[in-house]
Amino acid sequence: MDGAEGQEGGRAAAPWNRMRAGETAGPVPPQSDAGIWFIGRLRTPWSDPCACPRRGDAAAGPLCRIELDPLWAEALDGLRPGPVQLLYWMHLGRRDLRRQSPKDDGTTRGTFALRSPMRPNPIASSEVAFLGLDGADLLVRGLDCTDGTPLLDIKPVHGSLK
Ligand SMILES: C[S@@+](CC[C@H](N)C(=O)[O-])C[C@H]1O[C@@H](n2cnc3c(N)ncnc32)[C@H](O)[C@@H]1O
Repeated sequence: MDGAEGQEGGRAAAPWNRMRAGETAGPVPPQSDAGIWFIGRLRTPWSDPCACPRRGDAAAGPLCRIELDPLWAEALDGLRPGPVQLLYWMHLGRRDLRRQSPKDDGTTRGTFALRSPMRPNPIASSEVAFLGLDGADLLVRGLDCTDGTPLLDIKPVHGSLK
């Protein structure tokens, strides 16, 4: 297997990507349709997806860091502490599932009916609390991803700008 299908085979071997009863998978396209740039990495306490919370807690979750690629430092101008939306790339998840069983109880739902990280384009979003800068890093609470997860975008939560 080459290209996207070959990569999918590699990811599917990870323990957190093991298929559960009733789940279904299928082929993935041979090539991608768009390019993206990772703008940074998320630094969190968790090395394994199984250790992450299912959903981050912006009030009581652990302090995490965003290591922003210095290329984009100027793009932070005007971003104030407060609620911020992060989009990130769940790089460890398989991308070929059609039906998933979140409770591993034999019942399934379609991938697009779930917020699972296993999806064709593994984009995750979370509203986190942006607490301020520490040097070049952004300090945040409310993440639910593994250490080193690639960051796609940072957006102010609508209406939070004053
Ligand atoms: C249910 S998803 C929710 C993600 C995001 N808050 C959302 O709603 O789009 C969070 C789970 O993704 C898994 N996960 C975390 N980091 C990952 C990564 N880098 N690649 C694949 N899966 C990951 C963990 O099991 C974690 O509990």
